[in-house]
Amino acid sequence: MPHPSSNQKDTESGLAGIMAGHTNICSLDETLRYRGYAVSDLVQCSFEEIAHLLLWGDLPTATQLEAFTGRIQHAAQSIPQTVVCCFQGLAETSPQTSIMDVLRTGVSLLGQLECDNGPKESPRAHDLSQERMKAEQLLGQVPALLATWIDCLRGESPSRWPNKPLAPALLEKLCHTKASNIATTVFNTTLILYAEHEFNASTFVARTVTSTGSDMHSGVTAAIGTLKGPLHGGANEKVLHQLMDIGVPENIEPWLARKLNDHEVVMGFGHRIYKTGDIRADLLGDACHRLIYSDSTYEKHQKLEKLAYKLEQLLFEKKELRPNLDWPAARVYHALGLPINLFTPLFVVARVSGWTSHIIEQMGNNRLIRPLAKYVGQAPRPYVSIEDR
Ligand code: CMC
Repeated sequence: MPHPSSNQKDTESGLAGIMAGHTNICSLDETLRYRGYAVSDLVQCSFEEIAHLLLWGDLPTATQLEAFTGRIQHAAQSIPQTVVCCFQGLAETSPQTSIMDVLRTGVSLLGQLECDNGPKESPRAHDLSQERMKAEQLLGQVPALLATWIDCLRGESPSRWPNKPLAPALLEKLCHTKASNIATTVFNTTLILYAEHEFNASTFVARTVTSTGSDMHSGVTAAIGTLKGPLHGGANEKVLHQLMDIGVPENIEPWLARKLNDHEVVMGFGHRIYKTGDIRADLLGDACHRLIYSDSTYEKHQKLEKLAYKLEQLLFEKKELRPNLDWPAARVYHALGLPINLFTPLFVVARVSGWTSHIIEQMGNNRLIRPLAKYVGQAPRPYVSIEDR
């Protein structure tokens, strides 16, 4: 018989509202801030400036930025041959595999090749700067893993990573052409807004792994597996499938009625913390609008935008639900011509900056993360030997 309290809805269900630690990296109090700066100001930066801010604690000077960008590019250009060979084999045997799995395997393999055993028990400043170097490497290696996998799928040997900042370089690799200024700017904005978000599920997992004394690559590998889920990073891919499913404006009402009736969630809406709106969705929603109405290149996406706008209005009317970041991000990536199965991997590319910053923060002031569980199982009962069961 189940324990009588198993039906009680605990206030801490899903750890909602529980303060689980301290951080210097990100705050959500009155608006979203990275290291004290409002994201609404930071969207004018390059992704590298933001990654530097998160990892090193401050926005870089021009000289620091040049060196930081160079180190990331160098890492992107130095994917070990063992990883390339492994990807070539996997591309032959399991080409349909989720790209999230490819990134998870890739990061794990990089950790093994580097013999990453984490910092010493009580890391000193010196050890933490070694960890920051590892983080910088991952910032370049993860997008390069993505590009390498795509080359392997096409049966081509990996082409050289361009000597450019991350947003234009990655867009060029994925689209095989030089992107326009507006496309690069909006893509860069998605990376900045995806970079960091306090104690979200994947970051919390990365910190938990780190708290056991494990290494950065293990933390990032576990975080990628966590981000894959549709209630977290996987939502951006589902958003587009959903819009495709609806197809035309006349289908919106019956489609939504069916979803709500079946108690299914609408992807790209709702948030554990933002109950009155997600600033990231507002900022990227505006950027998405600017992109799609910028010139005739994106004209064919205007229909989908109108459909999205209608669904957004109806969901607010019916459930007072507002969009989260995945809602505009999916539409931006689609308009840029990126295949749907790249959407969540792009979230990974950006969030590596947040994960590694949290891993280093955890290493610098560590205590094992080990919460309690409230027992709601069987009441104590006598043991029965196997012959008598
Ligand atoms: N569609 C329909 N109903 C919803 C949705 C949604 N997207 N989100 C919440 N609700 C309902 C929920 O069912 C509940 O209804 P009721 O009170 O009738 O049971 C009510 O709204 C309150 O929800 P909640 O318990 O406060 O939601 P939560 O904090 O447990 O879940 C969430 C947050 C993000 C998991 C959820 O909103 C969701 O599943 N959204 C869709 C998936 C999604 O877009 N995820 C991306 C999140 S943002 C990017 C990231 O961090 O990865």
